Amino acid sequence: MCGIVGYCGRLNAQDVVINGLEKLEYRGYDSAGISILENSSLRTKKKAGRLINLENALKDDPFKGNIGIGHTRWATHGVPNETNAHPHLNTNGTISVVHNGIIENYLDLKEFLISEGYTFKSETDTEVVAQLIDYYYEDDLFTAVTKAISKLKGAYALGIVSENEPDKLIAVRHASPLVLGVSDELGTFIASDIPSLLEYTRDVIYLDNGEIVVADKDSYTIYNENLEEVEKEISKITWSLEAATKDGFEHFMIKEIFEQPRAIEEAILNKMKDDEINLSTGTFTKEELNEINQIYIVACGTAYHAGQVGKFAFEQFAHIPVTTDIASEFRYNSPFIDDKTLLILVSQSGETADTLAALREGKKHGAKTISITNVVGSSIARETDKVLYCYAGPEISVASTKAYTTQLIALYFLALDFAKKLNKISDEEIKNIINEIKELPNKINSMLKDLDIYKNIAEEIKDSQSIFYLGRGLDFISAKEGALKLKETSYIHTESFPAGELKHGSIALIEDGTKVFTIATQSKLVEKTASNSQELTSRGAHVYSIGRVGDTLLEKSADKVIYVPNSLDVLMPVLTVVPEQLIAYFTSVAKGNDVDKPRNLAKSVTVE
Ligand code: F6R
Repeated sequence: MCGIVGYCGRLNAQDVVINGLEKLEYRGYDSAGISILENSSLRTKKKAGRLINLENALKDDPFKGNIGIGHTRWATHGVPNETNAHPHLNTNGTISVVHNGIIENYLDLKEFLISEGYTFKSETDTEVVAQLIDYYYEDDLFTAVTKAISKLKGAYALGIVSENEPDKLIAVRHASPLVLGVSDELGTFIASDIPSLLEYTRDVIYLDNGEIVVADKDSYTIYNENLEEVEKEISKITWSLEAATKDGFEHFMIKEIFEQPRAIEEAILNKMKDDEINLSTGTFTKEELNEINQIYIVACGTAYHAGQVGKFAFEQFAHIPVTTDIASEFRYNSPFIDDKTLLILVSQSGETADTLAALREGKKHGAKTISITNVVGSSIARETDKVLYCYAGPEISVASTKAYTTQLIALYFLALDFAKKLNKISDEEIKNIINEIKELPNKINSMLKDLDIYKNIAEEIKDSQSIFYLGRGLDFISAKEGALKLKETSYIHTESFPAGELKHGSIALIEDGTKVFTIATQSKLVEKTASNSQELTSRGAHVYSIGRVGDTLLEKSADKVIYVPNSLDVLMPVLTVVPEQLIAYFTSVAKGNDVDKPRNLAKSVTVE
């Protein structure tokens, strides 16, 4: 997730901005940049890669001034390089902008600005903002900013400085995080996150949507979206820097579980335009799709489970049979791949060696390729014909959570896009499914309100030798993901089975007190899974069922039922996985494990 820092006051702005950006490094980024007003002139430096590259570049020729903005970029529009790094300037270099979020209508605005004679250097949506402010600038920066933002759709936090008004810092918050730090002695600070401020001030103002801040070295004024001045409460930060880096959460894993509603919203926002599916360069045309006669979805681990859920979506929405394969298997066993094959690769990191090798193997046989990845400019993104990004923001915990749920969203949208282009679904059906998808963030939020049930289950299972996860149909895929999450974080042997397969051998493993999770959310399969649960309880197993609100039938066959909100069957995996993630997290905590870096695992598996 991009990081913004801005400052206007009495200190050296370069020091404050760089220091602030260092505190945001934990969020992950791929380039960094800074603009400082030095003797009323705007000076800007940007570097791809780590912040240290920018710091080294500034060593020989430091910027001197008391007003500035800086940015660490996590690429979303355009590859991570120096040109796409922020800040972005207007053509004559008098206005500088840093941005966090997504300008949904940037292509329309860019087209308009081009028709007005503007030219662009980068592929980013942010450069459009700088040029739009320039377009509206007459003699007042604040007015130009308000006119520009009235044209923006999407989510954005902005930091703006200009040599036309070299005593000012302007900041805007609209659905992307931005906090204000205030100090009578030192000046005004803006940042995406509190850690950047803590060295200078513990007095912060949480900005609300639509608010605009205008600061000079002595004071600041906050305006609401109607451009009326507002008085805001100053809050005192009492947390340590270490706690603040994780937004007050104890671990990245739980922080990222909680980030899912927001990440899913962003994932949806990026796949729609004017209420219609719009995957832009992430998909093929109708004519190209007509040339395809088979689809493979290939991935590893959690991403593979996402692909398996995707298979159901493609089959249900687009009526296309899909084969899923584990990348390390596919690369050595892909006899039927040809130029009529579509290969969909799912990878959070975009760097997984096996998935990359599977992609190259597919391309060798002429397959068309689409990647679903979270990392812009990653190897897999670069080597596939089309890329669909997850927009989960950087995932730091090794155990994947928000990347999985946003991979599911990408797969649902891709399946709907194919279904529409191939005339396999009505507009009405698409609308209903998308409305249900849009409800998912709120439903996840409702599940994150009371965590006691998961903490209690963690205490009950933490000393188990072996745990089982069962389900049928899509619930079996969710069971696989639940088992993977639990084993990697808790180090407890956890196996998943299709519930109906149990009695063909594995039921021999069940003994008095064996802990079993059964997932029962698929409407046609609930009764069947409930009856499997009964088989287990009657053999002494302790059964936890994850089912839909209202399916009280499950209470007859389980010792404890975890209810999740209702949705369409095909969307249930997005909801079912949340309790699974929480159980895995709290069990790891209860066992005193290294939650964010489980033993023997790496975040990105770049070896075969
Ligand atoms: C599990 C997990 C792994 C990854 C797998 C693929 O929590 O994170 O199973 O899903 O290593 O990684 P990516 O998605 O980066 O290709």
